[in-house]
Amino acid sequence: MAQAEIIIADDRLLPQAVQIYNSVFRPKREVDFFKRRFMGRYKVLTLLARLSERPVGFWIGFELKPGMFYHWLGGVLPDFRRQGIAKQLAEAQQSWAKEHGYEYLRGECMNNQREFIHFAIELGYDIVGIRWDSTHADNLIVFEKNLLD
Ligand SMILES: CC(C)(COP(=O)(O)OP(=O)(O)OC[C@H]1O[C@@H](n2cnc3c(N)ncnc32)[C@H](O)[C@@H]1OP(=O)(O)O)[C@@H](O)C(=O)NCCC(=O)NCCS
Repeated sequence: MAQAEIIIADDRLLPQAVQIYNSVFRPKREVDFFKRRFMGRYKVLTLLARLSERPVGFWIGFELKPGMFYHWLGGVLPDFRRQGIAKQLAEAQQSWAKEHGYEYLRGECMNNQREFIHFAIELGYDIVGIRWDSTHADNLIVFEKNLLD
């Protein structure tokens, strides 16, 4: 277990989260892709995990509707996985969401993102459904967690 420093990333630090995104996901995205996704969103929260000042993970969420916070995207650099980094990011997001009055956290992942499925179950999320995602031509698994339990 590595003890990460979890910080809130403002606009200045957003490129560091995007850099991790581009090491984990394809296709690669520019910072503007994220800024566009955030437009019109309420309470965007970008978290960065750092080990000895080095950014190794990111976690991004925003309000989906009153009472429900949505975990949109997150990832940890491959060399730093299974050290509890994502767990620390998810717990920081949960605490923040609870402090800001949210009752539920929702997250989604593709059926083939097995690491995240294991991770979400381990963190106490329930599977509440699947939905078709036209962009990826695949089903997304929908997870929810009650923050007040
Ligand atoms: C999913 C992901 C964020 C997990 O990050 P991580 O820092 O390795 O996760 P943690 O170390 O905090 O894992 C906590 C627990 O989740 C479970 N878990 C995490 N990864 C797992 C895996 N590959 N297989 C099985 N269980 C896993 C385990 O129970 C783990 O505890 P343990 O290591 O003590 O057994 C990381 O694998 C990742 O970035 N994957 C690619 C991107 C992705 O799929 N993102 C999700 C869609 S947005």
